[in-house]
Amino acid sequence: MKFKKSIFEKMGEEEVKRILATLEPFAPKGDMKDIYVRDIFTKEFGWHFPTYDSLVKIRDYVSGKSVLSIGSGCAFVEFLLQILGVNVTPTDPYLSHCTDEVTRHTEVEVMTAREAIKSHPGIDIFLFCWPSWNPDPDWTGEAMEMIVSGKNENTRVIHIGEGEGGCTGSQKFFDLLNEHFTMEDEVWGKNFYSIHDYVQFWGPKEADSEDEGVADN
Ligand SMILES: C[S@@+](CC[C@H](N)C(=O)[O-])C[C@H]1O[C@@H](n2cnc3c(N)ncnc32)[C@H](O)[C@@H]1O
Repeated sequence: MKFKKSIFEKMGEEEVKRILATLEPFAPKGDMKDIYVRDIFTKEFGWHFPTYDSLVKIRDYVSGKSVLSIGSGCAFVEFLLQILGVNVTPTDPYLSHCTDEVTRHTEVEVMTAREAIKSHPGIDIFLFCWPSWNPDPDWTGEAMEMIVSGKNENTRVIHIGEGEGGCTGSQKFFDLLNEHFTMEDEVWGKNFYSIHDYVQFWGPKEADSEDEGVADN
């Protein structure tokens, strides 16, 4: 499937609002009927129901820097971010969760997290949207290990998912996040019944910033 990136240049905030308005009938209502709707939504769009406010918050947080998205699936969130002007590269090996080429919303580089991080050196911002829950082998922990080993004062992680002990990422993923980063901000949007995902913005720990000579503001 071919996607024309140039089309994004003609789109913008209004188009993102229009797409989200079209999806409003799928929006979580917080009752048990959500279970059926979410099942369709995950297959066609993704595991997170994006909101305009959270997408704009991500755009502003990355402030023009390139973003590597790992385990992007259909890359719907990444597609909307691209429309908003974010330079985000979606990647996914399509190894699980029934996502495939048919449902992709934008170009996705087909590769594992390990391959993605290796082949995109110099990236400071990593996006994980619903990273697999306790996968075996643990690609989420391994990815975080690689990010930590190449980390500098500009490294940031955006995790869209549940909190520690929830249904996204592994314990190692969270242990490394907690050890090396601090959650600078969070944005809650619309949650399907019994789901508690939100957008988490992880930046350097204060001590790291001081060690690396970055002034607090
Ligand atoms: C729960 S889905 C989330 C997909 C998408 N980010 C979303 O929010 O809709 C987890 C994704 O992890 C991907 N995955 C599986 N093994 C992986 C690996 N080794 N490296 C990177 N991604 C992997 C799957 O192919 C799947 O698309």
